[in-house]
Amino acid sequence: MKQNILEIRGLKVGEKRKEKKSLIVKGVDLTLRENTICSLVGKSGSGKSLLAASIMGILASNLYSEGEILYRNKKLLELPEEQLNRIRGKNIGIVMQNCSCSLNPLVKNGRQLSIVLKEHLSKKENRRKQAEELLRSVRLENPRLILNRYPHELSGGMKQRLLTAIGIGGAPELLIMDEPTKGMDVILRNQMADMIYQLHKETNVSILMITHDLELAYNISHDCYVMNEGRITTHGETKTLFETTNDCTLNDLLNAQKIMTEFFAV
Ligand SMILES: Nc1ncnc2c1ncn2[C@@H]1O[C@H](COP(=O)(O)OP(=O)(O)OP(=O)(O)O)[C@@H](O)[C@H]1O
Ligand SMILES: [Mg+2]
Repeated sequence: MKQNILEIRGLKVGEKRKEKKSLIVKGVDLTLRENTICSLVGKSGSGKSLLAASIMGILASNLYSEGEILYRNKKLLELPEEQLNRIRGKNIGIVMQNCSCSLNPLVKNGRQLSIVLKEHLSKKENRRKQAEELLRSVRLENPRLILNRYPHELSGGMKQRLLTAIGIGGAPELLIMDEPTKGMDVILRNQMADMIYQLHKETNVSILMITHDLELAYNISHDCYVMNEGRITTHGETKTLFETTNDCTLNDLLNAQKIMTEFFAV
């Protein structure tokens, strides 16, 4: 039986200066089993990215979180910043939403990657080789060329892969990916899905994958949680959930995506 790598219990996120009534995340429970991919889907604004930020301890300063986030039985919300820093990147990695904003436009790709490697792993002389290997593991061809370029010289899909490489640079056992296929065309989306699944298979990394892409969630996630207005409305084994649910939020999302698929198929 797989152990739980992450357990979230009664997580609330709210604005510091407002009443409890104005909670944004309203008591979320979520369990991620080790060596699995768990998807988190839901309407825009339901609190998915805030949940990710809470796990990483990177909420905006006007927000607070309460409840329990247990990573390997460590209570993340209670850890001092210094201990949290040791876990971030090395044990838990993140690939943020809006990939372009996460890269420094003035710093070459190789340097962005080597900062992570320097922090967590390797000796200086090994870093270049490791950076190239990381790029290969996210299926980026010509790694040498890419390392010598600036972020604006990469396509959206390549940037997303580079960010994934940065996210896994510290060899984390848990990776949070927020909208890994956002803005990609179908071909690129399928390649990305493939890449995530292969990465998971090759490295055993557990993944919490936040996505609007229900097909992606259906195809590669073992478990799925559905979120609406700050609450989890349903969860379960992904395929069973998608095929049998009568959850309104999930059905709304499935219908919306079906309409989109039909629209583009015409
Ligand atoms: N620092 C902040 N202060 C106040 N409200 C915020 C802050 N950050 C986010 N919010 C609000 O919290 C809500 C949830 O935001 P969040 O980014 O988690 O949504 P999401 O589910 O990730 O949406 P999407 O699918 O569009 O990315 C939104 O209404 C957002 O405007
Ligand atoms: Mg989001």
